[in-house]
Amino acid sequence: MMRFHVLTLFPEMVMQGLHTSIIGRAVENNCIKIEAVNIRDFSTDKHGKVDDYPYGGGAGMLMQAQPVYDAWHAIVHENAEKSKMPRTIYVTPQGTTFTQEYAFALAKEEELIFLCGHYEGIDARVLDEIVTDYVSIGDYVLTGGELPAMVMIDAISRLVPGVLHNDESAETESFHMDLLEYPQYSRPEVWHGKEVPKVLLSGDHGKIAQWRLEQSKLLTMERRPDLYEQYRRREKLIKRLSANKRQNFHMMECLASGRGTILADGEGILIYDKNVRTCMVNAESKTVAENLLPLIPPETKWVLSSQEFWNDILTEQGFKVACECLQACYTQRTPLPIRQKEIRPLTAEALPYLREHCKDLDADYLLGRVEANAVYGIFVGNQLAGFVGWHATGAIGMLYVDKSHRGQGLGSSLEAFAINRQLATGHMPYCHIPADNEAALKLQEKLGLYLSQEPLWYLENQPQK
Ligand code: ADE
Repeated sequence: MMRFHVLTLFPEMVMQGLHTSIIGRAVENNCIKIEAVNIRDFSTDKHGKVDDYPYGGGAGMLMQAQPVYDAWHAIVHENAEKSKMPRTIYVTPQGTTFTQEYAFALAKEEELIFLCGHYEGIDARVLDEIVTDYVSIGDYVLTGGELPAMVMIDAISRLVPGVLHNDESAETESFHMDLLEYPQYSRPEVWHGKEVPKVLLSGDHGKIAQWRLEQSKLLTMERRPDLYEQYRRREKLIKRLSANKRQNFHMMECLASGRGTILADGEGILIYDKNVRTCMVNAESKTVAENLLPLIPPETKWVLSSQEFWNDILTEQGFKVACECLQACYTQRTPLPIRQKEIRPLTAEALPYLREHCKDLDADYLLGRVEANAVYGIFVGNQLAGFVGWHATGAIGMLYVDKSHRGQGLGSSLEAFAINRQLATGHMPYCHIPADNEAALKLQEKLGLYLSQEPLWYLENQPQK
């Protein structure tokens, strides 16, 4: 359950505003918890005063440091470790602009504190001590921080698992993949003489999807040319990468799924997936590669390349070659037949089994994948006999079958299952197989996946000692 605390002088405004409709339902269902803390309750003044004149003069009053600090301190327990402190967001027009991306990042936290200012602001000394994020909802000035805090809490909450029902999913809406959402119509078929576009009545889902994409593009071009430019840049790069699909499939999927940020798309290509701190690179020459180095974000954990010269260049930068693999890509759109049907999502209960057979993966990472519903087990007579999953990068992996069950097609069923699942959710199925794993490479060919001609190297950033 995600917890929000709002430090405010107007708690009833926040509580009333956030206890209706979908967010209200999420509170009732215990998906999120919202608590408003009245800063005035922490005033040490006998009249409950919380503001005073600014030193140096100027218009209006400032909120004083003491009541704000004490209200914050009441939430953050005195003995909480510094590293586990919840992020404290001060909503202010002097902040970084809030975006859908910012909402995604904050939705990953378990607990957030919002600080709402009033009057002319808050004494800077307390802000220095408690605030981790200064955030604005746009270039205009409101009378207080309550409405911006409510806007942000709404946008963050709807990304918390369970808050939206499936039919309200965030998949097709505005800002998904840099396009605005297409226009929608409901009954009656004719209103004020205006007809619903014929294609929507056709029942042809392919045509409807095509029409909606076209409308999304037109709308974005007209209303948000800046977003449209981003969209076009991405589409152009995907097309360019498709000239060597087997080698570039992972980059195409990263861009097509909306996870990748393009950091370079000239002679050198650099795509960054910040969810997994992974850079995917490609350069026309070693010199071009060297020139790309400054663009690699410093927090990068992995670099993925399919050109050997990167190995020398990056080793000098403190990276280590962790794995040489081949990329296997499933380029058809039709799902594969599956022989064994007993394939089910695994829960945390299966973690010891997963850890035993996935020794190279971190325990926390495995738990994260299980919680994301991205690991499936195959059962023989109700007994777990193997598993498959997909990584946070989108690559299928973690394939394992118990020794006693090998040679019965379980591995094939598991991988086919993962491929079908990726297809069904609009992804491009691929996996990375260690170049010396003959059995796994054979399985790819048997299932109809294409192998890359050149290897792909995973380079891991070694933390400085
Ligand atoms: N407080 C006043 N105006 C604001 C804005 N635009 N964003 C965030 N907080 C604010």
